Amino acid sequence: MKSVRGLAACGLAIGLCLFMLIGVTRGHAAPANPARKPPSARIPANFSAKPTPQRMARGRYLVETVAGCFDCHSPHEYVRGQWIARKGLKGAGQIFPGNMIPLPPHSLVVAPNITPDRATGIGSWTDAEIARAIGDGVAKGGRLLFSLMPYASFHALTTEDLKSIVVYLRSLKPVHHALPTTRMPFPVQVQLNQVTALPPPAHASAEVRRGWYLTRMAGCADCHTPILANGTRPASMVLAGGLHFQGPFGNVFSLNITPDPSGISFMTEMMFARTLQTGRVNGTGRRLNPIMPFGDLRNLRPADLRDMYLYLRTVPKVRHEIDNTDPPTHCPLDGEMHGLGDLNSVPSKRGLHKTGGL
Ligand code: HEC
Ligand code: HEC
Repeated sequence: MKSVRGLAACGLAIGLCLFMLIGVTRGHAAPANPARKPPSARIPANFSAKPTPQRMARGRYLVETVAGCFDCHSPHEYVRGQWIARKGLKGAGQIFPGNMIPLPPHSLVVAPNITPDRATGIGSWTDAEIARAIGDGVAKGGRLLFSLMPYASFHALTTEDLKSIVVYLRSLKPVHHALPTTRMPFPVQVQLNQVTALPPPAHASAEVRRGWYLTRMAGCADCHTPILANGTRPASMVLAGGLHFQGPFGNVFSLNITPDPSGISFMTEMMFARTLQTGRVNGTGRRLNPIMPFGDLRNLRPADLRDMYLYLRTVPKVRHEIDNTDPPTHCPLDGEMHGLGDLNSVPSKRGLHKTGGL
């Protein structure tokens, strides 16, 4: 058993090196720093979050509507077409279902109990400890969290928003729910979501900058960017869709939401807002799979929806044909079998082969 695990770990290591080589030769941005390092720590030890009604309201909006913390931090069930947190267990954590998204082999990924239960949740943590887990990715005791927890994105939270989140978490009903701790085989990319932590747009309007902030906190890119077989994210496909989800809710891929014709260039601001508010693609009426968290996003304020839309109009267009209603075919870009996959030929590679006489 041990040697099998060892072999798998070696395979991963080789895969990772290969990817980095390929990444460099093809000019893709290879992971900048594969060392086990969190984003630079910034939460001071004396960080404290005094509860105020404003912070409660803002914290609730960020946690429940924008960031969807409970989508990961609660056990879920599929009821009448909905994928919802199990009753009474909101925030109580879950073991991430093994095949739900492509996670490293032999790993155990646990989104911990973040209710204020003292024994099994974060009830005994200081404000600074909670904030450091969210914004710096370091758990109480100093363990670096696996980067499925989107701390690479939450690192950009304003101090006031981070305080609001802490205040709201502390107001939750404590739920006693013991879980094991995440286990990762060495050497797993801790920076899984580093590449999807969208960089702020340069020279943008105030609306676009607000849209960037919300889009980053909402993890749109974390779901709408594929994870390749070697456990990495291609920087060239941020927001272009292709992450594979499987579970009781079905078998579905995230779609291309860049402003390319193969993405959502067809969507007006109104269509975009209606899609997020209703879970139906406005225009075709198709019901989206409930893994797309429109149950949270439907409560976004209209101005926030508009800002997100305006921001998404400014991101690089990526050509990636993908659809969940067509028969699956192999896609050379994300390596998956999905609708319209065969339309995604790799022109540069084909060109190379031609000129190289292969
Ligand atoms: C995509 C899934 C996902 C989302 C969304 C998410 N988390 Fe997490 N979170 C995780 C996972 C997985 C871990 C544990 C990683 C590990 O143990 O290495 C974690 C760890 C934590 C921890 C540390 C808890 C502990 O006991 O170590 C806190 C606190 C936390 N998350 C709060 C939040 C808050 C607040 C939000 C929303 C603002 C949020 N998370 C959104 C997946 C997620
Ligand atoms: C938990 C993963 C997840 C998150 C987070 C997520 N999405 Fe999605 N999204 C999906 C999946 C999966 C689909 C495809 C569902 C289907 O085809 O039935 C989808 C579909 C969509 C569509 C429909 C596209 C089309 O061409 O019909 C839009 C628009 C969209 N998402 C926008 C967003 C935005 C904006 C955000 C962030 C605010 C976001 N999504 C966050 C998983 C996610």
